[in-house]
Amino acid sequence: MQYRGTLFEPLQLPCGLVLKNRIAKSAMSDSLGDGTGHPTAEQFRLYQRWAAGGLAVSIIGEVQLTSGYAENPGNLVLNEASDLDRFRELARHGGENGTALWLQLGHAGALAYAPTSNPKGPSALDLPGLRCAEIRLDELHQLPSEFARTARLAQQAGFGGVQIHAAHGFLLSQFLSPLFNRRSDEYGGTIANRMRPLLQAIEATRTAVGADFPIAVKLNSSDQLEGGFDAEDALSVVAALDRSSVDLIDISGGTYFPGAKSASDGAGHGPYFLAFAKRARAVTTKPLMLTGGFKTRAQAEDAVASGAVDIVGLARAFVLEPSLPGLWKADRKAEPLFPRFSDAPEGGITAWYTMRLTELGADRETPVFGDLGQAIQDYAARDKSRTGVWLRHFANDAG
Ligand SMILES: Cc1cc2nc3c(=O)[nH]c(=O)nc-3n(C[C@H](O)[C@H](O)[C@H](O)COP(=O)(O)O)c2cc1C
Repeated sequence: MQYRGTLFEPLQLPCGLVLKNRIAKSAMSDSLGDGTGHPTAEQFRLYQRWAAGGLAVSIIGEVQLTSGYAENPGNLVLNEASDLDRFRELARHGGENGTALWLQLGHAGALAYAPTSNPKGPSALDLPGLRCAEIRLDELHQLPSEFARTARLAQQAGFGGVQIHAAHGFLLSQFLSPLFNRRSDEYGGTIANRMRPLLQAIEATRTAVGADFPIAVKLNSSDQLEGGFDAEDALSVVAALDRSSVDLIDISGGTYFPGAKSASDGAGHGPYFLAFAKRARAVTTKPLMLTGGFKTRAQAEDAVASGAVDIVGLARAFVLEPSLPGLWKADRKAEPLFPRFSDAPEGGITAWYTMRLTELGADRETPVFGDLGQAIQDYAARDKSRTGVWLRHFANDAG
């Protein structure tokens, strides 16, 4: 079959970096950190395998600015207390084969992992399954410099770029959402106010890393919650990002708010947020990436060929087949076979994929898919055992 899209053409970002093709591994929290915020041999191997597979961009999910608001005790934490040499090793392995290896900068805010944190969001909430305090103003003022510091350290460690996480219901996304953000100061109310923390984080990060280092933003097209951050709000943010110094806008949707829909648990076939991406294209000339729902080469090719997006982002497909771009390029039939789960509990599918990442990092995945219930149990047990490690290691950490 003749290759027909533009998936394998390079793309130059505004900062000058040339990406070798249009295929990215979207950010995934691989949950393989050692419990002290440092990378492990399994991560070196996992990111090396993805790099060898031929993707242009590989994004490490949820790298925390501080230990205080992690999404999971397997997250990496990068700040001045970190052992930079271990991050250097990760950057070296994951950046092989001309891969742009980026860190996604995260702060889980209200959705921080409760056993290791006191979750804080834009506003105090006490809802079923979600309780958080209001972030203090001095903490909020500190935030841009924390993004900047971690980005600068990422650059020093040899990573190729950063992505600021403003999607999926974590802190910056909570600020964007009127459901989480009930503030009446200059950070709440209008969408211009709600996006202030995001824009400040970008500005500080750009100052720290200079003009030629890629900064991406992951943004929801909508939270898919009644009364939440909607497509009109999201288009206003895209228009503001167009005027900012970001290099790439990665479009996603959904949240991990209890009871809500998350993209990583989604079962639909085909790109979830393409209609929004087409609207976003009309308000920005920045490169656009679209993440969520891609399962076949034809879907990826069509999205790029349509002109709506410049890069396609895949997450679960890369868990099932780390060498997907190389196989697609070689014209080998290589559509990953997706497992089907009926009656998966909330978060269960994401847990299953996370445990599959553990297998990939140990080179011990099998063609036979593991059991969903077992994966959920293993996932919870590992987090529980790492919680003690985390608490001991960060006991004196004010962050
Ligand atoms: C195991 C797993 C972990 C994820 N962790 C993150 C994360 O840390 N940051 C993020 O922005 N998205 C994360 N996601 C969401 C993906 O980036 C993506 O938005 C979502 O899975 C939909 O894309 P897909 O259909 O290609 O899987 C995760 C998804 C999975 C499956």
